[in-house]
Amino acid sequence: MDTVALETVRGWLRAAQHVAVLTGAGISAESGVPTFRDAQTGYWAQFRAEDMATEEGFRAHPARVWGWYQHRRQMLAGVQPNDGHRALAEFALRHPGRLTLITQNVDGLHQRAGSTDVLCLHGDLMEDRFLDLPRACCHPDTVEAGQPPHCPRCGNMLRPGVVWFGEPLPLAVFDAAQQAARACGLMLVVGTAGAVYPAAGLAHSARAAGARVVVVNTAPSELDDVAHAVLRGGAAQVLPALLGA
Ligand code: APR
Repeated sequence: MDTVALETVRGWLRAAQHVAVLTGAGISAESGVPTFRDAQTGYWAQFRAEDMATEEGFRAHPARVWGWYQHRRQMLAGVQPNDGHRALAEFALRHPGRLTLITQNVDGLHQRAGSTDVLCLHGDLMEDRFLDLPRACCHPDTVEAGQPPHCPRCGNMLRPGVVWFGEPLPLAVFDAAQQAARACGLMLVVGTAGAVYPAAGLAHSARAAGARVVVVNTAPSELDDVAHAVLRGGAAQVLPALLGA
């Protein structure tokens, strides 16, 4: 890691009243999080992930899609947050209200590392919500083996609380992320290829609003040219060095 660049960025960090952080799958890589397509093994190899991570797919085959998400949740059970997740949580504890954490990840590892108020742009794999707008009768207390829990009175099913293909990002979450990007003095873009919008656009918003933008990535990304500095290295090594007390 380039220590001159690191010391420069540490100076920008000290000077920034507010810091926004946008993370992607790369921050969880050193935790060994199976990627979206790693789950396509064994029985699940016969299905396309893209066909199951949709509302249409769930409505057509609720038991299959629910089973696939239960399988992905089980794959996550043995995974632990790494030093990159912990460095962000500890910085936020030492500097209350100074850091806004925005993530594209659904693995819940930031929360398990102790981060709070995480802006989850693509939802959270460990959360469920009702498929249709819940009515007063809706309590998911009917669980049949393999079937999604559903309301016994109106049949409304629980679905994973992630953003499926073709679905909009949660508006309030994205608005809060946009506000943080525009108000911060420094944005750290950690472990994302920067290829998926509107999430990647947050780095452009931060730069346009006058923030310093710093990319932390093991490889070139599509946001390198938006950055004032690139710290080439693994998040689990760079973030403790950058954010450490
Ligand atoms: N430290 C930092 N960066 C890393 C590390 C690491 N240890 N390991 C990998 N990376 C980088 C890769 O170089 C790559 O740029 O993390 C990035 C991961 O890119 P993607 O797998 O495309 O993940 P992401 O950018 O988060 O994808 C965004 O696309 O697949 C959809 O909805 C899904 O949220 C996801 C979105």
